[in-house]
Amino acid sequence: MDVEEAKRLAGIAACDHVSSGMRIGLGTGSTVHHTIVELARRQDEEGLEVVGVPTSEATAALARTLGIPLVDLDDVPSLDLVIDGADEFDPSFHLIKGGGAALLREKVVAQASRAMVVVADDRKQVDVLGAFPLPIEVTPFAAHTTVRAIAEVLGCEVRLREGSDGLVVTDNGNHIADAFTGPRITDPQESERSLLQLAGVVQVGLFVGMCDVVYLAGSNGVERLVNANGRMGN
Ligand code: A5P
Repeated sequence: MDVEEAKRLAGIAACDHVSSGMRIGLGTGSTVHHTIVELARRQDEEGLEVVGVPTSEATAALARTLGIPLVDLDDVPSLDLVIDGADEFDPSFHLIKGGGAALLREKVVAQASRAMVVVADDRKQVDVLGAFPLPIEVTPFAAHTTVRAIAEVLGCEVRLREGSDGLVVTDNGNHIADAFTGPRITDPQESERSLLQLAGVVQVGLFVGMCDVVYLAGSNGVERLVNANGRMGN
């Protein structure tokens, strides 16, 4: 099975957690794209009734195109579930996210959710986080100063992410700094804590203690990995 097909199956499998009446956080990325398409299919063909909170403008646009009703996170008390992708996850189900520059809204939505389901392909499963450059959302004000401070804290190269039109600008009007730590983020909670002490850091793409289940797509199909310390344990 090729990666794209495996991602599609993982994205669809995560929808098993969704039932009518739920408020769902809708993640960002190419894997959760399939989840959102499947939710729309169930809505149209099976009468599923859910409302979504998107984690990015891109996801909001996709959901609107597919006819999934959206609400503002401020207008609901909490979310039943968020389904989202990841760039890496470790054996403790800690995540690196933000490859799509949506980490701030993804984290706000995840924190407002009673459970987090991740959909990923098996390239994302690692022993130690950090081979994927750690995305960090930073203020445009003094962005280069903040990049230097991040480099000092982490002891690695840090670069502002560039797109075709210059520096990447997030949905929140900020920039993304990518930290090339290498696979040595053994204490993600401490890394997150020390980075958040820098005034120019808006948010860090480390999601610690948030993920409850991973639907992992590989060449043999989809595997369901449950975080024994999570909120959806067996
Ligand atoms: C968005 O900012 C990221 O956190 C994505 O969720 C992550 O990059 C996964 O995307 P893919 O499913 O496209 O790999």
